[in-house]
Amino acid sequence: MDSPKPGLFHPIRVSSLDVPGNVWLAPMAGYSDAAFRSVCVRHGASLCFTEMVSADALARNNATTLCLLRKASNEKLTGFQIFASAPTMAAAAVRRIVPLGPAIIDLNCGCSVPKVLKADCGAVLLRSPVLVGSIVAAMKSETDLPLSVKLRLGWDSSSLTYLQCADAAIKAGASLVTLHPRTRAQAFSGTALWEHIRALKQAVTVPVMGSGDLFTAKNCADMLTRTGCDGVMLARGCLGNPFIFAQTVELLSGSAAAARLDAGERLSTAMQHLRMLAESVGEPKACRDMRKHFVAYTKGLVGGSLLRQSVVQAESIGEYEEIVESYLRE
Ligand SMILES: Cc1cc2nc3c(=O)[nH]c(=O)nc-3n(C[C@H](O)[C@H](O)[C@H](O)COP(=O)(O)O)c2cc1C
Repeated sequence: MDSPKPGLFHPIRVSSLDVPGNVWLAPMAGYSDAAFRSVCVRHGASLCFTEMVSADALARNNATTLCLLRKASNEKLTGFQIFASAPTMAAAAVRRIVPLGPAIIDLNCGCSVPKVLKADCGAVLLRSPVLVGSIVAAMKSETDLPLSVKLRLGWDSSSLTYLQCADAAIKAGASLVTLHPRTRAQAFSGTALWEHIRALKQAVTVPVMGSGDLFTAKNCADMLTRTGCDGVMLARGCLGNPFIFAQTVELLSGSAAAARLDAGERLSTAMQHLRMLAESVGEPKACRDMRKHFVAYTKGLVGGSLLRQSVVQAESIGEYEEIVESYLRE
């Protein structure tokens, strides 16, 4: 790991909320569930977001959607993220979720998945800063909790609206803005244009979280240094690698670099993750859902591809244990 950068790790105050650190877990559909969030907290994430949940489904009390908002026992600060197309729908969702204890509620203004776009949610909002403001104002009318928006740059390269959207959201009551500096049209292609995070930070007075291409602790230090943003939100970089939270905190705090993890430590964390998942969704579903995480945990391990081939067949925790134990013996 490169030279430590003391002083980059610090608390963030978001309106009335004090978050003890500035290395957070980003919302990730299909991944940021209670079990994974719990693992991330254990490894140093100061605040974790749920995956985006449909405001419409929340307002209808959809049980599956509400399950996505269940918190892990070690989670002190959880951000709930909703996606909505209209103020009334967002307000109803906020009314429904406030009693579930979020630390902050975020409005998704960036999702580029066709299903979400078809419902006029996610990145569609980037086309109308006025609508972003109206939705945040409606959310604000229901709660004193801090609110935030998570933006992409804009719909496409000819309409970069993030500054207008941030301004509208802040005027309507948002206390934090996150930017993933790619357009909707880019999806995940190319590189994240961090210079826009810098432009956003210079334009607003609320804290700014940066997202995009954070795959190592060094990437996080570089983003904070180059953009002046207040904190980083890890996404793809922490899949199968929750250890990146502690590594980042250490690097940002200027402590000595952490030793490289061996296969045993990686796999024992993966097994703890599986057991937690089983507690929340039951063993059969956990064993299926864990496969994608397991693939990520074993990335780069010597003989990892054989391990992955065996795991895709595993249907019980016992089978996972046998596969892992036999791998470590060999
Ligand atoms: C599998 C996956 C699911 C995601 N789901 C969400 C989501 O529910 N809400 C959201 O705002 N962003 C979502 N994102 C975007 C991430 O939060 C993040 O902004 C993006 O991945 C850029 O960061 P990275 O390049 O470090 O991965 C998702 C990304 C991935 C890879």
